[in-house]
Amino acid sequence: MGKESPIGIFDSGVGGLTVVKSLLERLPGESFVYFGDTAHVPYGNKTEEQLMSYARNILSFLIDKGVKAVVVACGTHSSITLPRLEGQYSFPMLGVVKAGARSANRLSRNYKIGVIATQATVSSQAYTREIQIINPSCEVFEAACHKFVPLIESGVLEGEEIQGAIREYIAPLLENRVDSLVLGCTHYPFLSSPIKEFAGCDIELVDPSFETIEELRDILIRDNLFNDSGDSPIRQFYVSGNDESFYKVGRVLLGDMIQSVKRAALD
Ligand code: DGL
Repeated sequence: MGKESPIGIFDSGVGGLTVVKSLLERLPGESFVYFGDTAHVPYGNKTEEQLMSYARNILSFLIDKGVKAVVVACGTHSSITLPRLEGQYSFPMLGVVKAGARSANRLSRNYKIGVIATQATVSSQAYTREIQIINPSCEVFEAACHKFVPLIESGVLEGEEIQGAIREYIAPLLENRVDSLVLGCTHYPFLSSPIKEFAGCDIELVDPSFETIEELRDILIRDNLFNDSGDSPIRQFYVSGNDESFYKVGRVLLGDMIQSVKRAALD
């Protein structure tokens, strides 16, 4: 493992590509191996033990690929499995929740923060905890949005169904006068435009991926793992299940950067 080794990134499906997008913008010289666990999507309704078993399998896969660091590009794993796995591996691992909490605190002016995420993330209260560690007087209103991930995974990013779900989940948060809204599941930045349209321009949408990649950058520099070789980066995409929709939806976000998607069954 060295500076030129890839970064491992994982999620249940295409959601983590929102983190890859930020990585490409901020750390374009880094190689990476992306794993979308599409055999088990959605994660939001899985138990802690199921999620632990998926995380361990994915981490073994990424270790076999020789990764130098891992970004848990998934709000659900960042909330539930990362706190249990931290410290058990020899490479740095970071998730999106602490980064999202920092960004939300920075952007909120009235200290009323909304969080939309999966049921598992909302039940864990991880965002509320992390936001209030930074500022205990913040009020946090969380909403689980179980309809979004299946729609996004099947390539539905706009239209009546999406608009209906946005209304259902976000209207109650607006009634609580939140001035910032954390997109607490990495899939949700795919819906930034219709969410913004519904919520209005006074609401700051918080995509935790930017701050996550800033944190990754600091860690790579600190641990002397930043790839400054100037060589062309190698970017690989793997999934455990359906690769067709991953390819199709993935290219909406990342364009023809996704050349091919390989299948790797882990269990
Ligand atoms: N994108 C993931 C998250 O951030 C997983 C969503 C899901 O599969 O339900 O929580």
